[in-house]
Amino acid sequence: MSKPINRRDFLKGAGALAAMSTLPISMVELAFADSSQNFTFAYISDAHIQHIKGREFVRNWDRGLIRAVAETNMLTPKPDFVMFGGDLGQLGKREELDHGAEIMSALHGSKVHYVMGEHDYYLDLGQYWEKLFGPKYYSFDHKGVHFVVLNSILTYDDWTFKRWPTAEQRMLEMAGLDNPNGSPFMVGDKQREWLKNDLEKVDKNTPLVVFSHSPLQKIYKGWNFWTEDAEQVQALLQPFKKANVIYGHVHQIQYNQIGNISFHAVMATSWPWPYPSTYTQAEQYLPKLTVPMNRADPFFERDATGWQFINLATGNADVHYNLSSNTSRTVSFNTRTGQPEDEAYQPADKHIPPQTHF
Ligand SMILES: [Fe+2]
Ligand SMILES: [Fe+2]
Repeated sequence: MSKPINRRDFLKGAGALAAMSTLPISMVELAFADSSQNFTFAYISDAHIQHIKGREFVRNWDRGLIRAVAETNMLTPKPDFVMFGGDLGQLGKREELDHGAEIMSALHGSKVHYVMGEHDYYLDLGQYWEKLFGPKYYSFDHKGVHFVVLNSILTYDDWTFKRWPTAEQRMLEMAGLDNPNGSPFMVGDKQREWLKNDLEKVDKNTPLVVFSHSPLQKIYKGWNFWTEDAEQVQALLQPFKKANVIYGHVHQIQYNQIGNISFHAVMATSWPWPYPSTYTQAEQYLPKLTVPMNRADPFFERDATGWQFINLATGNADVHYNLSSNTSRTVSFNTRTGQPEDEAYQPADKHIPPQTHF
C-alpha cells in the first residue's frame, strides 16, 4: 500500500520532484518506473448551489465550492484534470448551474470533466446542463488509463414522463433524501449498450476508472444510495484486470471491493449526509470494508464536508480526502489484501475478505 499523504506531504513531495528534475534522466526513470500511470486528478462534488432570488444564493453552499476550488488551485504538482461529481445545482435551475459554472471557472487552467447528478437533471432532463458542460455520458483516455463517465441517475420512463404534473414537482420529488415518492436510479439499457461497445475497444489490462453519481453498488435503497442495474454494470467491468468506480451523491466516505472493482465515494462541498446505519440501526447498510468518518458537528458548518485528490499509481486509486474542519483521511489500495483500506483507521488485525459476488 502506498503511504497515505496529506496535502502538506503532497506539497513536500512536489519539492522533491522539482529537485529530482536536476538528476540524470536515468535516475528519474528509476524512481518513476511506471510514470505513465502515476498522476493525480482533483475531485470536487455535490456543491448543491441553491438559488434564492435575483443574485442571491444560499451562502453556505457557495462557500463550500469556492473553498474547494481555491484549495485545488494550490495543489502542487498541478492535478492533470479536475472532476466534478454531480449535483452542482440544488433544483436544476439555470441560475444555479450558471452560478456553479462561474465558481468552477476560477480553477486555474484545469480541464474539468462533469458528471450528471439527479439535482442537475430532473427539472429539464439535463438540457441546460448539457449545453454548459457537454454530453451526459462519455469516455476519454489519459496516460494509459481509460476513464468512463456515466449518467447513473436515470429512472423508469413512467416515473419521469407520466407521474408528475409539472417539471418542478418532478424535480422536488427526486431531490429528497428519505422520500417514498422517489424512484430508484439506474444507468439503463441504452447506456449499458453504449458502455459495452465502448469497453469492447479497450485492452483488458488497461486500468479502468468509471465515474458515476449514484453508487454502482446497492447500499441503501430507502435513500437512493443505490443503482438498480448495478450488477449489470459491474458485469461489464468484470473482464478488466483492474477497475475503479468513483461516485458522489452519498456525501460521506465509503469504500468497498467487489471482485476486481474498487469502489470509492467522495465528499460533498455542501453538507454531510449521515450514515444509513446510524438511522436504521442496520449494519448492512454500509459497504462492509468502510470505516465510517466521525459524524459532523452541526455547530461547524464545514465539518465533514470536503473535496479530494486522487493518485492513480499502477491503476489503483488512492483517495486523499481533504476534510474542511476535520481530520484528513486517505483510503488507498492495499495490494497485499487486495482491497481499499484506510491505514490510519482500518483495524490492522482484522482482514475482511473482499466480496466475490456481484
Ligand atoms: Fe448531493
Ligand atoms: Fe445526488
